[in-house]
Amino acid sequence: MATLTPSRYAVVGHPIAHSLSPLIHQQFAKQAGIHLQYDKICAPLDGFTHTVTDFFAQGGKGLNITVPFKEQAYDLAREHLGDNGRCATAINTLWMHNGQLHGDNTDGAGLLLDLKRLGHVNPGQRILLLGAGGAAKGVVLPLINSGCAQLHIANRNPERAKQLATHGSNLALSYGLDTQLSSSGLDAIPGSWDLIINATSASLAGQSLALPHHLFSPQALAYDMMYGAQPTPFIQQAQAAGVTKLADGLGMLVGQAAASFSIWHGVHVNTEPVISALRQHLLTP
Ligand code: ATR
Repeated sequence: MATLTPSRYAVVGHPIAHSLSPLIHQQFAKQAGIHLQYDKICAPLDGFTHTVTDFFAQGGKGLNITVPFKEQAYDLAREHLGDNGRCATAINTLWMHNGQLHGDNTDGAGLLLDLKRLGHVNPGQRILLLGAGGAAKGVVLPLINSGCAQLHIANRNPERAKQLATHGSNLALSYGLDTQLSSSGLDAIPGSWDLIINATSASLAGQSLALPHHLFSPQALAYDMMYGAQPTPFIQQAQAAGVTKLADGLGMLVGQAAASFSIWHGVHVNTEPVISALRQHLLTP
């Protein structure tokens, strides 16, 4: 009897050794009863296009794209982009359809999936988004689409926050949504917030942000898009301010993978057991 060759998927980045994506997709595949192979590919910094072209030419089915290639992936797939990818101008998921390269960004969908899991997607809520770089840009449209009443973007460099808020206002207008967008520097954030999301890379560098305590209402969820074995500096900071609902970005990582899996396989998977397994993996190096 012939053995079926598994469909091939991979994540492309530089570096890539640290990526948890193969672990996540193998667990989803097991859950869904799908036979697949999912590899890590370290593309040369000047060879991303060749790596992608070669992968699909050899029959590969789907790619996840990570740092530093998400903008190049956007350029490659710009003829066939999903809404989130177009708005983020960065792509983390590629696939072929009718011989054409398609792309989308599932980071925001992953964040929303995780916020739903945590019971924190409430229409009308007021959201504070910290940061105005690539990570923040990737989640603006899905957050607006979640039906929030207000989205305030605060950034160390207030001009970048203003630009992203203007981009968000235009998106809200074009989608017929009435979310109010506003912006400021980190030192001038008004009011207190239902949901505070850290999309800065400060936690990566082990730094906390200069934030006033009043931002964290006691019922708020403080969410760091970064994750680690230990609570991130932002999570520790929120905890010190009395916040009890805390989450890091491990659930978002699994959520964005689940959204890619759904694009490729048309199957919605349960993220909860995979998040638990990954947490265990992080705690036992
Ligand atoms: P990414 O793709 O991870 O978002 P990026 O586009 O370089 O990376 O953006 C990094 C974000 O983290 C920016 O919002 C940056 O603020 P500036 O625009 O003012 O540079 C923010 N950031 C990084 N380190 C920070 C720190 N120590 N304090 C405050 N903000 C920080």
